[in-house]
This record gives sequence, C-alpha cells and structure tokens, in this order.
Amino acid sequence: MPYTVAVIVGSLRKDSFTRKIAKAAIALAPADLKFEFVEIGNLPLYNQDNDGHDSAEVKSFKDELAAADAVLFATPEYNRSIPGVLKNALDIGSRPYGHSKWAGKPAAILSVSPGAIGGFGANHHLRQVLAFLNMPAMGQPEAYVGNAATLVDDKGEITVPATREFLTGFMKTFAGWIAKTK
Ligand code: FNR
Repeated sequence: MPYTVAVIVGSLRKDSFTRKIAKAAIALAPADLKFEFVEIGNLPLYNQDNDGHDSAEVKSFKDELAAADAVLFATPEYNRSIPGVLKNALDIGSRPYGHSKWAGKPAAILSVSPGAIGGFGANHHLRQVLAFLNMPAMGQPEAYVGNAATLVDDKGEITVPATREFLTGFMKTFAGWIAKTK
C-alpha cells in the first residue's frame, strides 16, 4: 500500500547538505513511499497566544502534516541539538493542546553533518521530542550521516557505495516500520 511521507528539513540554507542527503535518500526509497517536502522556513515563531488563530502559513503547514501517514526528519545539528527552526515547527504542529498534527505518525530521523559525529546530539534531542509527541520513531537503523560534504555529487547522487547501500536499507526498513506501526 502506498504511504505519503512528509519530509521536514531542519535547515533553511539554500545549499543545505541535509536537504541534499534527504533528496538522495528519497531517490533510493521503495516505490510504495510517496514523499512530500513540508517547508518550515515561512512559519511564524510559535506564540501560545495564537493557539486557535492559525495564520494562512500555519494552517497550510498543519494541513500538509495531516495529509501525511508518516514523517521523515532530516536535520543538521546546531550546538549539539536541533536547529531552532525545527523545534519551532514541532511546537507549532503540536498545538492547541489535544490537536497535535504529529500524534501517532511513525517517524524516521536522518541527522546530517559535515563533521565526523553525524549530528548524534541533534538526532537524540529530536528523539526526546518525538517521544512526547507520541510519534513512534524507528530505532534501527540509526542514521548519523557524517562527512556530508563529501557524499553527494553534482547530480545529487550519493558517491560512496557503502552510504548508498546504508541509505537504501534505511528507507526500506522505514517503509516496513510505517506499515507495522500505522
Ligand atoms: C553548526 N554546525 C555544527 N555541526 C555539528 O556537527 N555539530 C554542531 O553542534 C554544530 N553546531 C552548529 C551551530 C550553528 C549555529 C551552525 C550555523 C552550524 C555546523 C553545521 O553542521 C553545518 O553548518 C552544516 O552545513 C549545517 O547543515 P546544512 O545547512 O548544510 O544542512
């Protein structure tokens, strides 16, 4: 059965490595997964006073989340955690209380860094948030994509065979995880 997966990228940078890796991973995914990038760069800063009074941007963001069966998070690491823009998007989608758009949606995390540690800190801080949002996050395989600047060529394809193989397996397992937990 085909599943729609919302893709949230935690970097707003034009030449983001994280977005490139997410796109390359999507190209390796099983055909029964359909991916829709849900952009977070135009969202306002979350303010609890606005609960119940969604702007057009917030409404459209929530509608896109509601239409998805699952979520793929691709995030860089900022100061050993997730970028503020990603946390803001998570907070916006979670409120008003009792009306979270995230609840119950299976998730997978790709953390990406040009450094060697592969965004481990961001990956695990995100897992902590997903636990509270009641999003079953795939445990294995974990994806800490390090040395990201060297992994993608001009065509957007993964240059390192072992990484290509790993991401192919990651996406295949994610498809199984969605089918199992949905
Ligand atoms: C970083 N960077 C970074 N990298 C890392 O591996 N661990 C970290 O804690 C941080 N901290 C950090 C903080 C801030 C504010 C910035 C701007 C950057 C470097 C980061 O991995 C690098 O800029 C990536 O290129 C960001 O990902 P995108 O935008 O290429 O997807």
